[in-house]
This record gives sequence, C-alpha cells and structure tokens, in this order.
Amino acid sequence: MKTAIRYFTKSKKGNTKKLADAVSKALGIEAFDVSRDFDEKIDRLFLINAMYAANIDKEVKEFLSRNKDSIGEVININTAASGASTWKAVKKVTDELGIKLSEKEFHCAASWIFINKGLPTEEDLNRAGEFATSLD
Ligand SMILES: Cc1cc2nc3c(=O)[nH]c(=O)nc-3n(C[C@H](O)[C@H](O)[C@H](O)COP(=O)(O)O)c2cc1C
Repeated sequence: MKTAIRYFTKSKKGNTKKLADAVSKALGIEAFDVSRDFDEKIDRLFLINAMYAANIDKEVKEFLSRNKDSIGEVININTAASGASTWKAVKKVTDELGIKLSEKEFHCAASWIFINKGLPTEEDLNRAGEFATSLD
C-alpha cells in the first residue's frame, strides 16, 4: 500500500508539524507540507492539519482539490486549542470532492497564544505515532 503524509502548519509554534514529524518517524516515511502535490496514486493519505477559526485552512482545502484524483483514502489527524476534531470540516470538503475519509482519526489539544502551554506533549506525539501504526 502506498502511504503519504501531508501537513499544514500556520503558527510559529508549528504544533501540527510536530505531529507530522511523529507520524513520519513512526511510519518511516517522509512528511511534506501541502504545497507538495502527488504525481502518483496514493492509497492512504495522513492529512495532518489544525483548526483555525473553527475550520481548516484554505491551503488544506486547495491541496485536496488539486490532488483529489490521486487520493484513495484520507486519515485525519489534527491539533486545536480546544482539542476539538477537524474531521467534520474535512468531511465537508472530501464529500464535495468525492474522496473517501476514514472514520478513524486522531486529534489532540495544542498551544495557542497563552493557552495550553507545552502542548502537544511528548506523550501526545507518541500517541499520534501509535495511532498511525495501529491502522490495518
Ligand atoms: C489564526 C488562528 C485561529 C485559530 N482558531 C482556532 C479555533 O477556532 N479553535 C481552536 O480550537 N483553536 C484555534 N486555533 C489554535 C490552533 O488550532 C492551534 O494553535 C494549532 O495547534 C495550531 O497549529 P500550528 O501551530 O501547526 O499552526 C487557532 C490558531 C490560529 C493561529
């Protein structure tokens, strides 16, 4: 199975990139940001994103749109200050584009300005890696 990791990180803290690096290490495959498009069919895409203004970023939506014909299935992983999932926001986009989104997902709380200092923790990063390797 061909697997890929793409992430989008916006804040200077790079919280989402930390998750992407943890998943990359766990799976032994490189993580790239969403500016890197696919030139081949990908069976499973780990899409590592964050919540901004109660939504996912435009760049994440545009990446999915540009690559919709190359993506077999998306696994959503995200950070948010609230700890909430972006799965529904991603689902809205994947449904519009006809991409399959797995029900399996991982999300954790992360720092934002003065909130959640020190998050994600090493344990959160380990859990993200374990989630990625636990999938069939
Ligand atoms: C512009 C902006 C808007 C945000 N809006 C929300 C929000 O609506 N809900 C939430 O839970 N977190 C929100 N956050 C917090 C981010 O989801 C959190 O800091 C995340 O870990 C950022 O990931 P990054 O460091 O990879 O960009 C926001 C952060 C930024 C920078």
